[in-house]
Amino acid sequence: MPTSLSLRLAESQDALCISGLATQVFLDTYAVDGMRADLAEEALSVYAPKQFQQRLADPHRTLLLAERNGHLLGFVEVAQNTRAPQAQLAQGLELVRLYVQRHAHRQGVGQALLHQVENLARAQQACCLWLTAWAENHPALAFYLAQGYDVVGTTAYEFGGNAYANQIFCKTW
Ligand SMILES: CC(C)(COP(=O)(O)OP(=O)(O)OC[C@H]1O[C@@H](n2cnc3c(N)ncnc32)[C@H](O)[C@@H]1OP(=O)(O)O)[C@@H](O)C(=O)NCCC(=O)NCCS
Repeated sequence: MPTSLSLRLAESQDALCISGLATQVFLDTYAVDGMRADLAEEALSVYAPKQFQQRLADPHRTLLLAERNGHLLGFVEVAQNTRAPQAQLAQGLELVRLYVQRHAHRQGVGQALLHQVENLARAQQACCLWLTAWAENHPALAFYLAQGYDVVGTTAYEFGGNAYANQIFCKTW
């Protein structure tokens, strides 16, 4: 019988599983036309276990995990003191990434993780929770709109020598 979803703060020993899931979800989401060197490079460098160990040791970052039956289904990472693309976001908390494994989509995992970090942001007296999402990532855009986030502008994310249009989302309270 499946057990219910559980959420918990990530610890340093979780870096390996977070890295595995992040690599899987990143490539699944962004390598939609097939694999390219810049995507593979980004996945294997930015999402390496060592990088997550460093993020987990950073006092300005929080990572929350969603698990079921002892398996990781998704995680969310938020950070304070990041460079905000708009002045009014500077006192907010940034949602750096929210990744749910495809097999667990549309089961409320993303929403549960998002609610938890919204509570964390309020508890930290942040004025808002903000994030950027690739303008072609239509499932994510629909998800954040459904969760009550407003599009407050656009920005660009650069890697591999290319710039990708991103929408800036924000929920203020
Ligand atoms: C975006 C993402 C986090 C959503 O996670 P999820 O666990 O599937 O979302 P939930 O089940 O909590 O969805 C809650 C509601 O959001 C909306 N929603 C979620 N996914 C949607 C989609 N693909 N299309 C339209 N609406 C969607 C729906 O209203 C949904 O409620 P419903 O299923 O009862 O209709 C997930 O698709 C994901 O990890 N994608 C890959 C990584 C990514 O793009 N992350 C975001 C950028 S950082």
